Amino acid sequence: MKKVLGTIVAVVVLMACGSGEGKKEATATAATETKAVAAAPKPLSENPDYQKGLALVAGSDCLTCHKTSEKLIGPAYKDVAAKYEATESNIKMLASKVIKGGSGVWGAIPMTPHPQIKVEDAEAMVKYVLLLKK
Ligand code: HEC
Repeated sequence: MKKVLGTIVAVVVLMACGSGEGKKEATATAATETKAVAAAPKPLSENPDYQKGLALVAGSDCLTCHKTSEKLIGPAYKDVAAKYEATESNIKMLASKVIKGGSGVWGAIPMTPHPQIKVEDAEAMVKYVLLLKK
């Protein structure tokens, strides 16, 4: 018996046997996306105080003497807003000036009185004015 020594090419096929370990797919728990709507400041135009006050101011004679950002006969509303904090006492004080008239704070020209305006409406107007600060 002749032993034929053939070159035995041992091809080692490494079979990558996946170790039967079933990978537990970490089911990406879709973190409930509670989009915390960050307290983003709403645009001024959506503020009810702004809307109400603007309507009252526009319906009265205020804009013949006041502009939002420029001095006319009276101070610019933006400047008034910058001067006063929107506190209750400031709102009341300024509302009473709108009704009774005022002078001496911004210059020599007085603001005409508006006795026909209700306190409540004058306060709404002032709230609007004080919202105009940048
Ligand atoms: C005839 C012109 C005129 C009209 C009309 C007028 N204002 Fe004035 N307003 C002025 C003047 C002038 C001043 C500055 C008075 C001062 O120096 O104290 C002023 C001041 C103000 C101030 C600031 C007061 C202070 O003490 O700082 C507010 C708020 C204001 N006006 C709101 C209004 C509103 C609201 C209306 C409409 C209802 C109005 N104004 C209508 C002329 C006017």
